[in-house]
Amino acid sequence: MTATLTLIRPDDWHVHLRDGEGLRAVVADTARQFARAIVMPNLKPPVTSVAQAAAYRERILSALPAGSSFTPLMTLYLTEATTPGEIELASRSGWIHAVKYYPAGATTHSEAGARDLSHCREALGAMEALGVPLLIHGEVTDPDVDIFDRERVFIERHLIPLVQRYPRLKVVLEHITTASAVKFVLTAEDNVAATVTPHHLLYNRNALFQGGVRPHYYCLPVLKREEHRQALVRAVTSGNPKFFLGTDSAPHARSTKESACGCAGIYSAHAAIELYAEVFESAGALDRLEGFASHFGADFYGLPRNTARITLQRESWTVPAEHPFGQDTLVPLRAGEAVAWKLQAPI
Ligand code: NCD
Ligand code: ZN
Repeated sequence: MTATLTLIRPDDWHVHLRDGEGLRAVVADTARQFARAIVMPNLKPPVTSVAQAAAYRERILSALPAGSSFTPLMTLYLTEATTPGEIELASRSGWIHAVKYYPAGATTHSEAGARDLSHCREALGAMEALGVPLLIHGEVTDPDVDIFDRERVFIERHLIPLVQRYPRLKVVLEHITTASAVKFVLTAEDNVAATVTPHHLLYNRNALFQGGVRPHYYCLPVLKREEHRQALVRAVTSGNPKFFLGTDSAPHARSTKESACGCAGIYSAHAAIELYAEVFESAGALDRLEGFASHFGADFYGLPRNTARITLQRESWTVPAEHPFGQDTLVPLRAGEAVAWKLQAPI
């Protein structure tokens, strides 16, 4: 059995770093694992302008532990008021790399999102012309659609028309959860890709109800049936560069998840690359982890691949039961349980 695994240092193409004390509590985990990360803009208020993104970027850089070598890749939050001028400024900045679309009401802090992409035509046209990727939370918000079908219905109703209308727009369907999403991405042109989280690769929806309601497995899009998990594992271990790493690590205070109406989001930044290694190992595809984790995202975004390396050791360790989170704590993925691989400290 392989005892160590050396990879080009990976990047996380979808992470929530939050702000203030929360940011200071979590950013070190991401910076230890990844060279770069696409930072989600769903703060309160959302990051809708280049000026707000610049200020947020500075707060991230000053929250990093001394000696970190980590670059935050910033994003703007698409609203119905986003102008082509702001897109052009973002594109010229050199440090804003994408624009995120949250359908209004779809998930945590999505209230400011567009109600429909047809309300954002000028901004989308500018993004297509300038090569700015659109990152999509792909779920319909229609309460009449079953929660387990919301991704598939979003693809049918919104995504297929979108890629027809903007054939050159770079699109990343974020945190995909279904066989329908895999099929959509595989049949689309090369300018359409997807990120996949560790939790959607490791768990199916039974995890939400094992022996009782398990709020720490609740995220959006929600975990799906086993057949969908298997389709995701096949996609990421196939070596197809359209699928790359995006943890969607989304920290929430323990008290806001263990509640009558718990928040959506799973924290995985503390053990992300190790958890992905488990997935690739179970599929007998450890040799394909590096492409997924360290090459394909950079290639899609038109950024250079990293050159530094990390080493993972096949060594079981137990995830702490809690992690500090400002005045509160958070419960990380696998809390109190074992992870099979361990990231070695850089020498
Ligand atoms: C994310 C969050 O908490 O910001 N939650 C989640 O369940 N994934 C928002 C999101 O990406 O949907
Ligand atoms: Zn997210």
